[in-house]
Amino acid sequence: MKPAIRFVDVVKKFDDQVVLDHVNVEFQKGKTTVIAGGSGQGKSVALKLILGLMEPDSGQIFVDGVEIGNLDRKELDEVRSKFGVLFQGSALLDSMTVWENIALPLRERTKISRDELISRVDDALAQFDLSGHGDKFPAQLSGGMRKRVGLARATMLHPEIILFDEPTTGLDPQITMDIYRLFFRTQQQYGFTSIIVSHDIPKVFNLADQVVILNDGKMTLFEKPEFIQHSTDPMIMKFVEQTMGEVYTSSEELK
Ligand SMILES: Nc1ncnc2c1ncn2[C@@H]1O[C@H](COP(=O)(O)OP(=O)(O)O)[C@@H](O)[C@H]1O
Ligand SMILES: [Mg+2]
Repeated sequence: MKPAIRFVDVVKKFDDQVVLDHVNVEFQKGKTTVIAGGSGQGKSVALKLILGLMEPDSGQIFVDGVEIGNLDRKELDEVRSKFGVLFQGSALLDSMTVWENIALPLRERTKISRDELISRVDDALAQFDLSGHGDKFPAQLSGGMRKRVGLARATMLHPEIILFDEPTTGLDPQITMDIYRLFFRTQQQYGFTSIIVSHDIPKVFNLADQVVILNDGKMTLFEKPEFIQHSTDPMIMKFVEQTMGEVYTSSEELK
């Protein structure tokens, strides 16, 4: 199967700090991959490389078979239009209402009629459980609601790939689960490829088709989250011990 995203021998350094050290990994189309790893290991850098917001020192990154290193501005914009992105903090525009925030990608990227715009935004409000909140401003919302607005906005253009950077930081465990459930449902509906950077281990593994552990510049791919605990790699064993406690078994909790 053709991967949605492929890293080939990618090296990324900042001065003499090597963040990604000859990384080779594939993110499969239509699947959910969770990238897990300690703080400062390079998870956000990996997402920025995928979006072409940073360039690798060497190696290649392919999006849908296209190497993004040699593209001009316009071609890169085209590749970026495949993505929906939800970074930490949701990045909502504070001076705009919820409704306007969700309408923004449609206004910027499409030429749909006013009536269709209204109908699409109203549908999104309903889908993300935000009906009745369209006229509020981000500052008036709870953390969980802000995430839902961010998620609605990120999926508005039905992207092929969604990048989610620590989507639940600062949320309580119940709301965290609600956000993941909503995300899972949306993924099932649209079938996009998703890459989630998360600390919510092992809970987020219920969502994952595959897991990538990033440590010390290396990415290790597990084709099923359950495989992690059977690893005999000392680094992975330590990760399991520190983050998952006893034994992790995939549950249907989220699905
Ligand atoms: N623009 C930058 N300039 C210099 N160093 C950076 C830059 N972005 C990230 N780094 C460094 O790269 C490492 C990985 O960062 P990051 O990807 O943000 O980690 P995380 O895994 O927590 O998301 C960190 O040590 C960070 O300080
Ligand atoms: Mg980060």
